[in-house]
Amino acid sequence: MKTLYLKADDPAAVCTAAKILRDGGLVALPTETVYGLAANALNPEAVAKIFAAKGRPQDNPLIVHIASTDSVAPLVEKVDERLPLLAERFWPGPLTVIMKKSALVPDAVTAGLPTVAIRMPSHPAARAIIKECGLPLAAPSANTSGRPSPASAGYVLADLDGKIDAVVDGGECEVGVESTVLSLAGEVPVILRPGGVTPDELREVLGEVEISPAVFSALGQGEKPQSPGMKYKHYAPRAAVTVIKGNFDKYKAFLDAQNTDVCAVCFYGEGKYFSRFVEYGGKNDSASQAKHLFDSLRKVDEMGCDAAFVRCPDTDGVGLAVYNRLLRSAAFRVIDLDISIPVYGLTGQTGAGKTTVGRLLEEKGMKVIDTDLLARKAVENPDVLSRLTAHFGEDILKDGKLDRRALARRAFANEEDTKFLNSVTHPEIVRLTVEEIHSAEKAGAKAAVIDAPVLFESALPCVCDRVICVTADEDKRLERIIKRDGLSVGDAKKRMGAQKDEADYISRSDIIIENNDLDLMKAQVNKIFS
Ligand code: TXA
Ligand code: MG
Repeated sequence: MKTLYLKADDPAAVCTAAKILRDGGLVALPTETVYGLAANALNPEAVAKIFAAKGRPQDNPLIVHIASTDSVAPLVEKVDERLPLLAERFWPGPLTVIMKKSALVPDAVTAGLPTVAIRMPSHPAARAIIKECGLPLAAPSANTSGRPSPASAGYVLADLDGKIDAVVDGGECEVGVESTVLSLAGEVPVILRPGGVTPDELREVLGEVEISPAVFSALGQGEKPQSPGMKYKHYAPRAAVTVIKGNFDKYKAFLDAQNTDVCAVCFYGEGKYFSRFVEYGGKNDSASQAKHLFDSLRKVDEMGCDAAFVRCPDTDGVGLAVYNRLLRSAAFRVIDLDISIPVYGLTGQTGAGKTTVGRLLEEKGMKVIDTDLLARKAVENPDVLSRLTAHFGEDILKDGKLDRRALARRAFANEEDTKFLNSVTHPEIVRLTVEEIHSAEKAGAKAAVIDAPVLFESALPCVCDRVICVTADEDKRLERIIKRDGLSVGDAKKRMGAQKDEADYISRSDIIIENNDLDLMKAQVNKIFS
């Protein structure tokens, strides 16, 4: 199919688009939020084409777009008495309202739900086209399902060129994130998706308004969302996204510590500190963040980055919508660098006795975090696993579960693949580690100790206030690992030889604990951590 490109300011565009829609075709059109992929909402076959073009899951209902409030009544069982108040204040504009549907609305639009979502967009081109064709238009965002929504016509074509009849280019979308979805199906109005209209604005009109818990957190397994669109992952670029909480200095230190090629997704004026970056808005300007968020996420992919770290926005006003979209594009990977207890890194060569030192520190009220364990847990994360299988192929799975050996064979075969593995797993390992630090904090631990043999190969030093290195003479270490792991002298020496030398560890550490003799070691620990 050839996709017709129409300019919104071309006088013929409205008629052409309306005709295609009346004939059951698909037209991507500009709205003030994001581009929508429209079809006649009253024609199930036309609606089915939307799902096919986007690759949209069948259980995710569509929003019906109208151009006049009179169009609501035929679509709903009964016009809710709160609707006129909302329409008066927010329509046309970025608010979608959910009410019980009438028989006129096909099940194809509502994915079988008894309710229908309705909105009146304010973009002049969208309004003109709806009026001209005289039909309610079902329109989801005009992106391939799962990808960031398009805020400009170019990104519509990037996903859907050749799959839809036409696109109407009306320039950049004003709001940039999708409409607020508000359910009036129950007694208390519930925000199912935050958007251009803020909770406070809605409360001014309605009084009590709830925010669905799905706005902030992933659904548990088997849990059914109130709004099917709020499923696990969404709005995601190909790069693995992680949201970073904390001030700019912490963010910068964190990014500087990454040893893979990452992209900083930061605020205006901050990009100059990074080699690869996208600035997505002003620090204290949620509206500008909303406007550029999705295009910024797409730019990350255009730059060819495997991982992106995003500065966390404020959640006031429209910021809530920005945060909500980021959480989903990051598959809920958030790292909060605001830590209130001291954090120590604990490392050293094999056989030096880190574990013994760790146990002593634990007796002193510190929490020791085992990163080996977390590294294993990281690859169980569904987002991590799906990224790894997308890259390495299904061969790394056995009975649907990760086959660690197969992964190691593939990932360590060459440097590029190892780099990719790290770019996907490291942020998750760091996230899990920081999560443990925060739970230690809550549990009243005096400090957190990150036990990591490969601390310096990871980004973890940047969350450590100080790094402790445990040392022991070579013959001691050899004796210990032979005894502990039942190795031959040859194998033990090989393992020791594969590590960096002691001087390297020492030069990068703040506290050195010599562990040739248990009592002498204890004395040092007691002195340092008295
Ligand atoms: O700003 C917008 O709302 C854009 C523009 C194009 O209008 N449209 C948009 O549509 O974002 P879409 O399909 O990407 O998102 C619609 C959201 C989904 O989360 C869907 O699950 C939810 O609205 N939704 C639609 N009908 C619903 C219903 N009856 N009950 C609950 N949620 C519903
Ligand atoms: Mg969408």
